[in-house]
Parts: sequence; C-alpha cells; structure tokens
Amino acid sequence: MRSAGLSIRVPGDKSITQRALILGAMADGTSRIEGALRGADPLATGRALARLGVEIDGLGASEDQVVRIAGRGLRSWKSPKGILDLENSGTGVRLLAGALAAQPLTAVLAGDESLSRRPMDRITGPLREMGASIRYLGRPGVVPFQITGGDLSEIRHEGRVASAQVKSAILFAGVGAGVGVEVLEPRRSRDHSERIFEGMGVDVAEGEATGGWLVRMPEPPPRLSPLQMQVPGDFSSAAFFLAWAALVGCGDLFTVEAVGVNPTRTGLLPALARMGADIRVVGRRRTGGEAVGDLVVAGDSSVLGAVEVGGDEIPGMIDEVPILAVLAARAEGVSRISGAGELRVKESDRLAALATNLRRIGVRVEEFDDGLEIEGTDAPLTGPVETFHDHRIAMAFGVLGATPGCDIRIDGPGVADVSFPGFWDLLARVRTWWETVSDGTPRRGPGTRRPTSGMREPRPRARDTPDTRMPVVAAPTGCTVVAIDGSAGSGKSTTAAAVAGQLGYRHLDSGALYRAVTLGLLDADPGMVAGTVTPADLEALDIAIEWDDRAMAVRMRGARVPEEALRAARVTSEVSAVSALAVVREHLLQLQRAAAEGPGLVAEGRDMGTVVFPDAVVKIYLDAHPRERARRRILQRGESADAAEIEEEARRLEGRDARDSSRSLAPLVRAGDAVLLDTTHMDPMAQMEAVVGLVRAVEGSH
Ligand code: S3P
Repeated sequence: MRSAGLSIRVPGDKSITQRALILGAMADGTSRIEGALRGADPLATGRALARLGVEIDGLGASEDQVVRIAGRGLRSWKSPKGILDLENSGTGVRLLAGALAAQPLTAVLAGDESLSRRPMDRITGPLREMGASIRYLGRPGVVPFQITGGDLSEIRHEGRVASAQVKSAILFAGVGAGVGVEVLEPRRSRDHSERIFEGMGVDVAEGEATGGWLVRMPEPPPRLSPLQMQVPGDFSSAAFFLAWAALVGCGDLFTVEAVGVNPTRTGLLPALARMGADIRVVGRRRTGGEAVGDLVVAGDSSVLGAVEVGGDEIPGMIDEVPILAVLAARAEGVSRISGAGELRVKESDRLAALATNLRRIGVRVEEFDDGLEIEGTDAPLTGPVETFHDHRIAMAFGVLGATPGCDIRIDGPGVADVSFPGFWDLLARVRTWWETVSDGTPRRGPGTRRPTSGMREPRPRARDTPDTRMPVVAAPTGCTVVAIDGSAGSGKSTTAAAVAGQLGYRHLDSGALYRAVTLGLLDADPGMVAGTVTPADLEALDIAIEWDDRAMAVRMRGARVPEEALRAARVTSEVSAVSALAVVREHLLQLQRAAAEGPGLVAEGRDMGTVVFPDAVVKIYLDAHPRERARRRILQRGESADAAEIEEEARRLEGRDARDSSRSLAPLVRAGDAVLLDTTHMDPMAQMEAVVGLVRAVEGSH
C-alpha cells in the first residue's frame, strides 16, 4: 500500500536575505522581513551591520520569526569599531562594500580562508572608479581591505563576468550616493536587487543591449522606503532535494513547497528536463516581487540521461552546477558542463572539488578550464569526500550518499549551515519517508537503470489517485470524521481547529476532557492519587460537552469550565497520569463518540484514529522533530526559546513520547491507516491546507 506524499520546505533564499538586510539598513524606517534565512552567511552580514550601528532584531531567532531592521537612512551608518568579518560570505562582503562606498566612514572588511582567496578586484575596480578609496591590507586583490566611502560619481560599468554580486555592489553604491549607474553584463545574472529596489521606490530599467544585458538606474531617489517582505524558499537549496527525488525516482509523491522560482535562478529546471526529470511548478504566486511556486518532480523520472550545459545557461544555474554534476554521475552517457570557469572562484574551486571527489568515489571525470565531462555509471559509488569547506559540495555529495548503492563519507558536513541549517536532518527524514513508502524497492541504484530510448512504463499519477495513497473507510453516521493524532507540539491543536474552521466541522479537543477530569478530581481531593480513582468519582464530576456552534466547551457539575482552569499548572502536572487510567478513558469514550454529529467532526487527540474513531474517514498522524516541537511549546508558553531551553524541553518531550508510546493503555501510536504528516518545516497554514486537501481528496473520491 502506498502512503501519502511528502511536502517539505527549505530555508529562505540566501541572496534575497542578504540584500534585504543591507538595503533595510539603508532605508528610512523599520523594515520587516519574514522567512529570512538564518544561515551562517546572513548571520555574518547581520553582525557586520550591527557593528555599523544598525539595530537588527530577530535574526538570531528561528525562521518563523520576523526580522526587524531599524534603517538609518542612506549615509548614516556609524564608524565601526574593529574589523567587519564576513566569514565565508562572498555576497556579504561584495554587497556590503558597495553600500559602504557611499558611507562617509572607514571600515575594514575581512573573511575566512575561503573568502580570502576570492577575487575582489571585480568590485573594488568599479567602486574606486566611482570615487571610493580602497586599500588592500594583505595580498592585493583579496580581503582584508579597507574602504573609505563618501561622495561618488556616476559610472557605466562593462563587466567581463556575469555577476549579480558585482552588479549589486555598483547599484548599492549608486543608491547610497544618489548617483546614476549603468551596468552592462555579458550575460544576465540574478535580478533580486532590482526587484527589491522596486518595492523601495527605486526605478531600475533593464534589457538586452549590444554586448549583453544592460541594467540602468538613472536617478536614485533621495531616500529608500522600508521593506515589508516575505523571503521565498531558496531554489538553490530546493535543488538538492529535487535532485534527490529524481535520483531515487519518487516522482510526484514529493513536493518542495514555497520556493522562489525567479527565472534568473531556475536554469537547472530545463537541464533536468533534458535529463528526463521533469519538474513541475505548481501553485505559482508572487511574494515580495518574486515568483514563488511548489516544485514537484513530475511523471516518470526513473531514468536519467546525460546532458550538456554551457554558455548563456550557466549564470541561471551557477550555484546548481555541483548538484548537476552529481546527477550526471548517475545518468546514462557522458555529460558535459562548459563555460563554467566562474566556479573556480566560488567558496572553493568547485570544478576541481567536483572532479577530485567524483574520481575518489569511482566516477570517470575529465576536468577542463571551464568545465567537466562526467561519465555516468550505475556501479556502487563509495568512498570519502572532501568538502573543501564548501557548503554546496558537502550537500551535493550528501544527496548522492542518500541514494541506494552509495556509501559516501563526508568530512565536515557542518559547513552546510552556511546556506541550509537543518539540511542533514531533513535529508535523513526524506530518506526515511521514502524507505517507508517505497516498499523497500529502490527505483534507482545499481542494476535498476533502464535504457533512455524506447517505451517507458507509465506510472500512476499519485495526485490523481488519492485513494491509492490513503485508505478510506466510510463513516457509518454520515458525519465525516477526521481523526488527528500526534505527539505534543506537533501542531495538533492549531491544525485541528483551523481544519474544522475551514471545513465547517465540529472540533473535538479530547485533551480538554482529560484536563477537565483531572481538574475535577483535584478539586474534590487535592491529594488525589491517580491510581485510586473509581467510576463513581468520575460520575460525580458530571462531565459534558457543550457545543457553541462548532466550538466545544467542557461543562462539569453543571457549569462551564473556563479555559484558564484547564491550563492550570497543577492540572498540567497530573493530566498525563490521569489520562493513562483505563477507568478514565472508558468513562470518556461514549462522550467523545457522541460528538460525531452534523456534517463533520475533526477529532484531535492521541487515540482518535486507533480507539475512539477507528472508522474515521481520514486519519492523520502529525509529528515533528523534537527540537521543533520543543520550540513551539516554549513559544506557546510565552517564553523565549534559546538554544539551551530548546534542548532541555526537547529531552523532556522525548521522554514523554517514550512513556506515552510504550504505555499499555491507549499508547500514542500511529494507526496503521493514518497518513503521517511531518510538520517540522510546515507553518500552521500549510498544515491546515495539507489536511484539508486530504479530506477534500477523499470526499471527492467517494
Ligand atoms: C549571488 C550571486 C552568485 C552566486 C552566489 C550568490 C548573489 O554569484 O554564486 O551564491 O547573491 O548575488 P555571482 O553572481 O557573483 O556569480
């Protein structure tokens, strides 16, 4: 039996986050950024801005918290004390240098060993030409350098490389100094700065011109409006999971949600399509001037063919070449990547890093100045991989290692944090999900390849056939029962309430009943010992449910029990013991079942799908990573969630999970026919939509 598909989310876009931080710091007033990436790169930029006197709030918190930047205006940053260390971030150092070129102050920019090898002349050249004074403090052409900004003059810059970092540095300098700029790039590079400018009141014109792509900002305004924006998921991060899905062949069961699909970033998609892995963009929408969509690996992608990429295509997939090279290693035939010399000056020399590592694990590769030739193989690929401290090299080989037939050891996987905190956990989770749903038969791996030519067996489209993915049992009463079970902090209550609201169903919060019983027993006898409770004690409480339209309230001894009383600390500390009593569960069973009246009921608890409503039409089991559940619980209590607190709460939750799932009575278990929904990377809205989608699919299939 096939289980439900999996939807994941990836962290916010690195390029957009970096730009939003720096431009927010130059705006007049407070910018509000949602979904900002908390990777090491933007954190380094945030710290540098803080040293320049810019107050940034919320960047240290998790990604669902808003980041607020108190912009100081165009030329009012403060002289920093000490060095501005941009660590590993090429975008950070180059864009910040652009902004600093217009500030009347002196700053020193530095970075880690990798950044100290990357070329800076490409930005220091045009910034000097505009009037900034720049002095290399170590080796010429690389960080550290000192920059003194001030009045600048207009510039028309014709670059040799297509680089969004160079273009943005010049645009930022022009905006800061209030002077017009023109940048002619040989090929069009990503245009996030231009799009963000639009929302800040800056006019930028662009289009094809002789010699390439021309970007013009003739008259920057005297002030920038603050930003209100939502950062989409990073396409470059999503690419790793799309590639994994294509490699294991999980077809349209797998979705990466809410990803930025700006056309200057998605050059990988046509290349993948040519390899036979068609990625569909569904639910296209716009956020903060950027196109966003959900990405699904469409149709039968169980065979990958070799591909050739080069020339104009490269800027649009510049950060995806490592993962493309890994896919090429598993494709049939020889793939060629050319025109990609820029990869030699990224976080590592990526062409050399790819060639070295692919060879080490048994792939035949030829390395050229500007590219690679990779001969695909379906032999087992095993061995150690060196990341060269490059996040994308680590993740690309990590993806390969998470596919059948590969045993790959990666030195220093932590480097993924630069752009994708949580990458390894998420990879482990999708892998486990696929192992569970694929009946243990890998579609890809040694010996599973089929020729690229000839007929392909059609595979059922999971999205069109929800009944093959979710067992349906008709509700006898005519009332549609949706059972939602799950661990503490998995999002049960919020999701159940939202789903009920959306569908116009009743919402049964079974936890409130167990709390009411606990409260009643404690009121009757504060020294109550759970093990001695009798049916008569329970009868005396006279528990009932009162329906206020679709919302439920608990009545006890003839009076409505206030919500705060149910949440009291003494109730919280005893409810677990009380709800584990057979006598209590038995007592509340009929009461809960009687709630299934009217068009529908969303029943939320821990044994809804297993004991109370075994015939529920839809059963959902929610789960999330313990740390994420811990974080939600702490926030729910109105406390601040620092790392140590989260760890401690996560340990408590894991202990409770272990107790709840091993107890003999109504253990917390997933009903065999429940759909598992991992909410770690889902916000409440996405959880609600996923469940409502399942209910509608099932109802529609009747
Ligand atoms: C980036 C641009 C690209 C890319 C980098 C981020 C940006 O560099 O490789 O990861 O945010 O502008 P170049 O445009 O300099 O090639």
